Amino acid sequence: MEKPKFMSKCLVLVALLIACLIINNVESQLTTDYYANTCPNLFWIVRRQMFNALMNEMRMAASLLRLHFHDCFVNGCDGSILLDGSDSEKFAFPNLNSARGFDVVDSIKTAIESQCTGVVSCADILAIAAREAVLLSGGPAWQVLLGRRDGLVANRTGANLGLPSPLDDVDQIIAKFAAVGLSITDVVSLSGGHTIGLARCTVFSSRLSNFSSTGSPDPTLDASMVTSLQNLCPTSGDGNATTSLDVNSTYRFDNHYFDNLLNNKGLLFSDQVLFSGNPTRRRRPNRLSRLTVKIVHSSSGASPIP
Ligand code: HEM
Ligand SMILES: *[C@@H]1O[C@H](CO)[C@@H](O)[C@H](O)[C@H]1NC(C)=O
Ligand SMILES: *[C@@H]1O[C@H](CO)[C@@H](O)[C@H](O)[C@H]1NC(C)=O
Ligand SMILES: *[C@@H]1O[C@H](CO)[C@@H](O)[C@H](O)[C@H]1NC(C)=O
Ligand SMILES: *[C@@H]1O[C@H](CO)[C@@H](O)[C@H](O)[C@H]1NC(C)=O
Repeated sequence: MEKPKFMSKCLVLVALLIACLIINNVESQLTTDYYANTCPNLFWIVRRQMFNALMNEMRMAASLLRLHFHDCFVNGCDGSILLDGSDSEKFAFPNLNSARGFDVVDSIKTAIESQCTGVVSCADILAIAAREAVLLSGGPAWQVLLGRRDGLVANRTGANLGLPSPLDDVDQIIAKFAAVGLSITDVVSLSGGHTIGLARCTVFSSRLSNFSSTGSPDPTLDASMVTSLQNLCPTSGDGNATTSLDVNSTYRFDNHYFDNLLNNKGLLFSDQVLFSGNPTRRRRPNRLSRLTVKIVHSSSGASPIP
């Protein structure tokens, strides 16, 4: 009687070990040619669909890039941001009335399914769409690693806690990136994603008046920008009006995001804080001056999200 019990315990352990190995294996097995045989036209299908979407609305490039980012920060890049249901990440604060492009994902998925049925994961579709979005916006290309499995559960709490907030300071941002294995260099280059797209008044209006109870606007926001943003976002407004994250070129994937920061023209507090003086920076001159140098020399956020 004792023996089988012990055996079964061992078997459970071994099964667990194998499961772990398989999980590790799956992670390390991502390859660029994962669908070479099962869906040889995959990249072209996605590019064509993205092209059509951008012809219709250029902002979709930004929206699809952001979807991939918001997918990856919650339980890894597993497509969970696409799931509906009671724990849907779509209703987490960073996504509510904000994340967009789900209809474009659906049309890409439909186009893929008609040529290669049931083989391409939605997580991989988001990863490829983000690359095409950047490329079609005039940005750099990168090789997309493929072979992700779609998650079956969403995690709204994970999205609320794990995604960075526009009010986060630099240490909070660094910590949230570190929690998913990304470095300070990754923080700086990936933040370059804000070279395209729009943001609503509600995510930056706290900078426009009585910033941090000082009675004045955020001193690290360019004064002429303060004036024009105050016009866009009156205190009585609904907060839904939008403006460019990169004041220089809204839909062009270029280096202006970083130039803006040097000129106090970062739109979000969380953007400008990567560069501007703040107590954190004064306390850690070494690390943050390194960060500054990286901003100046960074090449427009070319790093892929893993
Ligand atoms: C560093 C921390 C980050 C914070 C705090 C942040 C926050 C935000 C906020 C508040 C918005 C505007 C949302 C709205 O108005 O509803 C936004 C938009 C956007 N974010 Fe970020 N973000 C961060 C990092 C990133 C990264 C890493 C990427 C991609 C590489 C990215 C890509 C975008 C894009 C493309 C948009 C515009 C989306 C559109 O126009 O539809 N962001 N972000
Ligand atoms: C969801 O995310 C939270 C916060 O990161 C975490 O504590 C929790 O374990 C996650 N739940 C699932 C089911 O992954
Ligand atoms: C700014 O906010 C603080 C705290 O909420 C408040 O006491 C103060 O009166 C405000 N100042 C102005 C100019 O609105
Ligand atoms: C802002 O937009 C969201 C959805 O896009 C909507 O639910 C909300 O009512 C809008 N706010 C106002 C005051 O119109
Ligand atoms: C954008 O930046 C370029 C290069 O720095 C500059 O020549 C141009 O005037 C800027 N355009 C706007 C609209 O700010």
